[in-house]
Amino acid sequence: MIRNAQVNDVPAIHDLINEYAEQGLMLFRSLADLYESLRDFVVCQEDSQIVGCCGLQIYWRNLAEIKSLAVRPDCRGRGIGRGLIESQIQQARQLKLPRLFVLTLEKEFFERVGFVQIPMDSLPHKVWSDCVRCPKQDNCDEIAMQMDL
Ligand SMILES: CC(C)(COP(=O)(O)OP(=O)(O)OC[C@H]1O[C@@H](n2cnc3c(N)ncnc32)[C@H](O)[C@@H]1OP(=O)(O)O)[C@@H](O)C(=O)NCCC(=O)NCCS
Repeated sequence: MIRNAQVNDVPAIHDLINEYAEQGLMLFRSLADLYESLRDFVVCQEDSQIVGCCGLQIYWRNLAEIKSLAVRPDCRGRGIGRGLIESQIQQARQLKLPRLFVLTLEKEFFERVGFVQIPMDSLPHKVWSDCVRCPKQDNCDEIAMQMDL
């Protein structure tokens, strides 16, 4: 079941994201940060467990980012990541956002769900605010991708 995140989900979202962040695959998120941006998140719940999460951060009329997408390692490859993205795409369409972008190492996954690579420098500086918290800030290996809605 994919649904909007609730306050009780935050510890599980935190664990999911930060386990991947330890491996250098995602950016760390603090509990405080997650509570503040809770309304940006959808989660996938199976039985009573949170097995995936995905955020959508809006910066401006035409600028919104898919963030903190993570699926529990033992649940990958079952369509949960696609389901989370599709849920956020649906919400983005309802909000009349014209496009979404993502900064990612997972090029093939995002291609599968409809994103295309764009030049990093086509995004405004505003989106780099997270880079100050990134341990790889001087050696960024992510690519930028976009989906027109
Ligand atoms: C990336 C991630 C969210 C994908 O979630 P998932 O639930 O395993 O993906 P899905 O099962 O929904 O896969 C959707 C499609 O993408 C493909 N796919 C998934 N991961 C892929 C990969 N690493 N390389 C190539 N294709 C991939 C699947 O085969 C599937 O294709 P199909 O629907 O055409 O058959 C998950 O692997 C993950 O949490 N990775 C670690 C954290 C991370 O890197 N997050 C991204 C931050 S931007």
